[in-house]
Amino acid sequence: MIKSETSNEKIHARALDLSLQKDVKRFAREMLEQFPKIHYLINNAGVAGDMTERIFPNPAVKHEREMTKEGFELRMATNFLGPTTLTELLLERIKESGSPDEVSRIIHVSSMGNMYSKINPNDMDLMAARQPRFDVSLQYCNSKVMQLHYNCHLARQLKDSNTESVALHPGAVRTNIFRDVSSLGRLLLIDPMLWLLGKNSRQGAQTSIFCVVSDDQLNGKYLMDCRPAWFVHPSVGEEHHETKMINQQISANMMLEVLLYLGRVILKLLLIPWMLWLYKELTMGICYLTKKLDGKIVIITGGTKGIGFQTALGLAQRGAEVVVASHNAKETEAAVADLKEISGNPRIHARNLDLASQVSVRKFARTILEEFEAIHCLINNAGIGGDLLHKYLPNPDHGNPHKFTDDGYERIMATNFYGPLTLTELLFERVKASGKPGDPSRIIHISSLENYYAKINLFNLDLNSRKTPFDARAQYSNSKLLQLYYNQFLARKLKESNCQSVALHPGLVRTNFTKEFSVLGQWITYIKFLIVGKSAQQGAQTSIFAALSDEDLNGRYLSDCRDAWIVNPTVGREERETKIIKETKHLLGVP
Ligand SMILES: NC(=O)c1ccc[n+]([C@@H]2O[C@H](COP(=O)([O-])OP(=O)(O)OC[C@H]3O[C@@H](n4cnc5c(N)ncnc54)[C@H](OP(=O)(O)O)[C@@H]3O)[C@@H](O)[C@H]2O)c1
Repeated sequence: MIKSETSNEKIHARALDLSLQKDVKRFAREMLEQFPKIHYLINNAGVAGDMTERIFPNPAVKHEREMTKEGFELRMATNFLGPTTLTELLLERIKESGSPDEVSRIIHVSSMGNMYSKINPNDMDLMAARQPRFDVSLQYCNSKVMQLHYNCHLARQLKDSNTESVALHPGAVRTNIFRDVSSLGRLLLIDPMLWLLGKNSRQGAQTSIFCVVSDDQLNGKYLMDCRPAWFVHPSVGEEHHETKMINQQISANMMLEVLLYLGRVILKLLLIPWMLWLYKELTMGICYLTKKLDGKIVIITGGTKGIGFQTALGLAQRGAEVVVASHNAKETEAAVADLKEISGNPRIHARNLDLASQVSVRKFARTILEEFEAIHCLINNAGIGGDLLHKYLPNPDHGNPHKFTDDGYERIMATNFYGPLTLTELLFERVKASGKPGDPSRIIHISSLENYYAKINLFNLDLNSRKTPFDARAQYSNSKLLQLYYNQFLARKLKESNCQSVALHPGLVRTNFTKEFSVLGQWITYIKFLIVGKSAQQGAQTSIFAALSDEDLNGRYLSDCRDAWIVNPTVGREERETKIIKETKHLLGVP
């Protein structure tokens, strides 16, 4: 491969087992016979081991001391003893090959792991014979610091010659060296580390190449990223002036190194939100349907702001007659005035509806049935959110308060599920009768991705969260899952009709939705908004699509104008859904 990529024919393959001294000597002999000059010796080969074995042991790998046939510990033999013998045997030839104009070099590919080595100079235990428990990473680090000691030793020896000895750390490089690490170790430690800081093998080779081609004086140096490395075990070269020379360079380059290193980490960290943002932008569903809705009547709950307002606007702009229903009369009037002005459509009405009150829902349904002979689209949009930090708050009332409605129902459940269910049931026949073959009427439920996290215990239904400590987020998730159950329940009922029931997740949308969240909850959501948030107009696209599309949407759950792919696994279990919906209807007293 190297030959074909470089068109250089002078590339030779030779066998060498560095872990065996006998083979190293055989190889050195052959080299001396074949090559009258050796300009560069790169001691690159090495073996590591499972560095994560203490935390995530790999059952497929033996975590014992492995010995070579000659009785040396494998890592020390391969990484230090073999290269040292080879260097010593070739040293004279390499020295002869250098000239004042072009020095020859011995290059030791060491590792930053040298920093973690522990070698007692008074009781060297290079074969790890006295370690109480063999530690493969420590052994690797020890072998790497020995390479650096040898580098300093050689450098002193080569001081006035035309040969230099230099060592380097190539960086954290995505190669096969991590092959023994367990899957868990890879997933939780090695892969994230490589992803954040790692180089590919071409990038990892740059410092080795630099050591060959550089005209700088490199004798005794230890490099990383083609510059002096700044982390080196304090014992390396401690008695000798070569080290002082390196250290002087270290202090000069230290700040620059730290800044470059931090810069790289920050860049990679920024990459994650940027990629999430890009994914959101590229996959965002936009409704391009231009279908006209003249003569159609749409009821939308909570259309005064956020997703509801933008949905009402999108439908009004297409000619629909829109009833905006919300619980704050003043705000509803103001929103309707704005909608009329922006859309130029005068057929927009403000109506009072408090979904948290069954009395209000019934009054509203009665008025609508009296006023409108047809309802082509009912959009159950209004809802209140649940603080994601609620259960961790020292004072839960700093987030959504645990309040009950006049009917005695928990407020989030009453607003997001009970109210819409009663409303839908009371308007059901009118909506159903308003569809025509090829032009179905629709009931649209604005649910949420949060349905995925819901936990509803069929045998211990506590939808009003009376028995359990109140967790607003769990309550919100449950209410959104129940919307999906109801969607399925209705879809089955509407199967052969001219009416369809469809649910959707609008995305993470920058709206007033977090108003009851704790300050920290709001901040966390704000950061999420910055990265993957949509504007209210973008968030309304799937609702508009659900109202306009000519596709058969009955029973579907959409996101970004297509089928959503994250949904609670319990959705679609007919028996479960029917039981819960029937019990709820019984509770609310709707037929
Ligand atoms: N924003 C998101 O990231 C997101 C994500 C997933 C799902 N959703 C869902 O999208 C829907 C719309 O939310 P949004 O983000 O547009 O929030 P929003 O800006 O807070 O809008 C909610 C609307 O519902 C109204 N409302 C609240 N309680 C009501 C009640 N008891 N009776 C009648 N109307 C009531 C609000 O009126 P007031 O403001 O006057 O109370 C407001 O008009 C909700 O069902 C929500 O669960 C939103």
